Amino acid sequence: MATASRGQWSGKTGFIFAAAGSAIGLGNIWRFPYTAGENGGGAFVLVYLLFVLLIGVPVVLAELSLGRRTERNAVGAFKALFPETKWHWVGGLGVATGFGILAFYSVIAGWTLWYLWEALLGGFSGSISAEQSETMFVSLTSDPLLAIFFTAVFLALTVFVVRGGISKGIERTTKILMPLLLVILILLAIRSVTLEGGMEGLVYLFKPDFSKITFGVIMNAMGQALFSLSLGMGAMITYGSYFPKRENLPQAGAAVALFDTMIALLAGVIIFPAIFAAGVDPDGGPGLVFIVLPTIFGSMPAGSFFAIAFYALLAIAALTSTISLLEVVVAYFVDERDWKRSKAAITMGAICFVIAIPSALAAGGSDFFTNFFGSGIDFLSLQNIIWGNYSLGIGALLLCVFVGWKWGVPKALESLESGGYSMPAGNIWGVLIRYVCPLAVGLVIAFIIITQQYM
Ligand code: PHE
Repeated sequence: MATASRGQWSGKTGFIFAAAGSAIGLGNIWRFPYTAGENGGGAFVLVYLLFVLLIGVPVVLAELSLGRRTERNAVGAFKALFPETKWHWVGGLGVATGFGILAFYSVIAGWTLWYLWEALLGGFSGSISAEQSETMFVSLTSDPLLAIFFTAVFLALTVFVVRGGISKGIERTTKILMPLLLVILILLAIRSVTLEGGMEGLVYLFKPDFSKITFGVIMNAMGQALFSLSLGMGAMITYGSYFPKRENLPQAGAAVALFDTMIALLAGVIIFPAIFAAGVDPDGGPGLVFIVLPTIFGSMPAGSFFAIAFYALLAIAALTSTISLLEVVVAYFVDERDWKRSKAAITMGAICFVIAIPSALAAGGSDFFTNFFGSGIDFLSLQNIIWGNYSLGIGALLLCVFVGWKWGVPKALESLESGGYSMPAGNIWGVLIRYVCPLAVGLVIAFIIITQQYM
């Protein structure tokens, strides 16, 4: 069987940590808070949670079941089941999306490395005002060489781990560091909610103002749910393909979704009270988290230590996500094109670096990419929307149609239940995958295109 040479997780916990490592990352700590801030707070959060439940969890299970059954990469999984059809193009879209996301994600991940560097130099020891913090942020992101340099370092780290192969590299890193991240986040949350004026932030985050729900908000919430759970581009197909046959897959999948959502909410509980305490505008865009957090460290005992620990762990959380993005691309070249893992990782990492350069220049480094073609939107945000919302949405839609209608719910359930575990509410899952998910995702995308209320 292919399993032995492809590698496998050591067991269920190994898988949960690795898949949670993919899911938990900048999506939770950087993208969720600023997207919530731009989309009206509580109303967005509510729609996001609905999408996690109705679409996120079912699609996680659909991707994992496909990966487990076929033990193949995102493209090979479709080919293994229906070699004569064009369904594997869905996997091809996933590989392209992995590339597209990695090429802007690694820029933001590079910012975290720079903040870690600043923290190590003691940059967050004294109290810092929101204005000072913003100046610092701008000085980094608008420096073209610095931004490109840290993007390169981050991609190099990703290539290094992915070259090492599945269980050795990925599992070992996540198992120790994810729980540590959780501890630091909880401590930061406690500090943040006890800041003066912090409560207002919690109200903003959790009290929905229904008048704020527009198609744009719905589209962003859907994209965020898919992005955060690493769905719609084959990461969970690929990770599911390394899942041992004897373990309980539905439970593991649900645990990953739960963990991921908890961390996003926790990040919100850290950021929003601090936003209100520091008097920052929640609608501050991609720089929001980077600007707000230093104001918390400055007001904490042992702030320097927390800053170092936080940025180190955030960089690692981002790394376990970039690993999964690159892994989708690498697994395709290894399985389908017979490339050596190391050649695939290095070549694809290098190409991705070149594609990432415009995004690295999109926060002030180059006027052209900062205001792309004079459109008022920067290149990085554009990539974030194209790959992170549209492409994941279309990928998830096609995946549901494939699993629900082509491959079929009974076969997918059989894969989910292998190892002798029963899948709770299997019928409901079938209805969600066949009808609810494709209709909901399809309608949201169609409305966005027709009404042009977005972007
Ligand atoms: N889920 C990751 C995060 O939240 C990002 C990601 C998206 C990873 C899609 C893989 C696939 O940071």
